[in-house]
Amino acid sequence: MTRECTYAVAPNIAFIKYWGATDLDSALPRNASISMTMSECASTTSVRCLEPGQPDEIWLAGIDGLVAAEGAFRDRALAHVERLREYAGVDHGLAVATRNNFPAAAGIASSASGFAALTVATLGALDKEVPAAELSVLARRSGSGSASRSVMGGYVQWPDGEDAEGPAVQLAAADHWDLRDVVVLVQQDEKKVSSLDGHRRAPSSPHFERRQELLPDRLAAVRSAIDSRDLAILGPVIEEDAIELHLIAMSSRPPIFYWLPASLTVLAAVRRLRDRGVEAWATLDAGANVHVICAPAAEEAVVAEMENLDGVHGVLRDRVGSGPKRLDRSLFAVTSS
Ligand code: DP6
Repeated sequence: MTRECTYAVAPNIAFIKYWGATDLDSALPRNASISMTMSECASTTSVRCLEPGQPDEIWLAGIDGLVAAEGAFRDRALAHVERLREYAGVDHGLAVATRNNFPAAAGIASSASGFAALTVATLGALDKEVPAAELSVLARRSGSGSASRSVMGGYVQWPDGEDAEGPAVQLAAADHWDLRDVVVLVQQDEKKVSSLDGHRRAPSSPHFERRQELLPDRLAAVRSAIDSRDLAILGPVIEEDAIELHLIAMSSRPPIFYWLPASLTVLAAVRRLRDRGVEAWATLDAGANVHVICAPAAEEAVVAEMENLDGVHGVLRDRVGSGPKRLDRSLFAVTSS
């Protein structure tokens, strides 16, 4: 049996957002969503098998070594480890070490990459060969619905309705279309209201049902834009859907304001770029940071425009990625040396 396994898994940025659920305990979405899996941002997770009966361990790997995880994150990780152990039909303890190379819980889908990485690394450590579709379902059951999309590379759709329980499906591989995601950081600390609370409150917004009516056309437009690699079609639709998510959040009861003043500064800068003929479009998950989606040729202009704006702490250059990567090095070894 493989005793240890390490994976790096990237977050994904939703082009059409999952916002609102029919069953939050099982993370079943009210609407289908489409995302692009990222590449440079990543959650790296090592899982090591312990002896049967030994208690599970959850560690955060930082520059000073391993620190025991605490609070809600620890509880969610332990519950998911238990779920995966049951699925695999084993009884020994598991030690988990994990780290992100980007700010967590600030609109860069750290739960998606974190729970997807925990899922693939645990099953790898247990030497279980699990098809990607099954990994997607298992990752979703962590409660982070968007994790179901991060086990796939490229452009991914997570269906709704009767298919919501099923896996997310790849619409196109990463090499189909080289899109860039310049993540403009205006917030480094964690958002105050979780996505879970956002999903819970979403139906109380008067705009929630209206969005459901608009989504079938929007989803079709995004699928077709991906198919034909057409940023002029994709861009306006993804920007519109992101703004509508925040409109719903701001008009929920009680309201949620994820944006910071600098988020608006960045949105205005993206519009200025377009006025100058640079094709760049903004989207935001449940956080204040802004993802600017563009073609490779526009990336330098986007970075140059964003870097020196008031309230911007920095930019991360990311791009479409090909999905989970198994690594040879272990976070247990790296941090104890
Ligand atoms: C706005 O319930 O998957 O990012 O568990 O915090 O990752 P986390 O959130 P989840 O909701 C994601 C909401 C979203 C849109 C999206 O990714 O589709």
